[in-house]
Amino acid sequence: MKSRGKSIVLIGMMGAGKSSVGRCLAQRTRLALVDIDDIVASRFGISIPEIFSKHGEQGFRDAETEALRTLTATGQAIIVTGGGIVLHDENIDILNPLGVIVWLDGNAEMLFKRASRSGNRPLLQSENPRKAFAQILQTRLPLYAKIAHLRVDTSVLTDEEVAVAILSKVRRLNPQPGSPIPATAP
Ligand code: S3P
Repeated sequence: MKSRGKSIVLIGMMGAGKSSVGRCLAQRTRLALVDIDDIVASRFGISIPEIFSKHGEQGFRDAETEALRTLTATGQAIIVTGGGIVLHDENIDILNPLGVIVWLDGNAEMLFKRASRSGNRPLLQSENPRKAFAQILQTRLPLYAKIAHLRVDTSVLTDEEVAVAILSKVRRLNPQPGSPIPATAP
């Protein structure tokens, strides 16, 4: 594979652990952590659930793409995306040149348990959250698979173990200077 950009981009379903694994990666690599949900929330000055209820999913998606557009000016970083980032082609076109796209996957039951734990995922506020989750997962699996350069199954790993697995896979994929991982990263 050709040498890719310099960042590590985490994609995957709600509950895959993208935010916490992103923090582990940022600590290990000493790269900046950029969380798209945080950018969107701070733009509106309210939480993600509040954005969904005030502006609808479309309002959130527009702001999500807007936040991604600012990334071209971001240097090398660990980029954490929301689970729905793969829904729009423009998002994928923006993410692709930035670096290695890593899909955090896992078994569906475990992902659902983790995603529903906080109780604040807007897309799971339905009569049957399990069914809603299964439908969303089914739609998205092929999209994650299509755009990811690497996949890590997080089902039986801690966040730190996932981070270590990612760094080792990324190093193998892109070992030359300018790769996302400083040679000193643990
Ligand atoms: C979403 C996932 C959320 C957040 C928003 C929409 C989705 O992020 O972006 O609630 O469509 O799956 P996480 O994947 O971090 O939960």
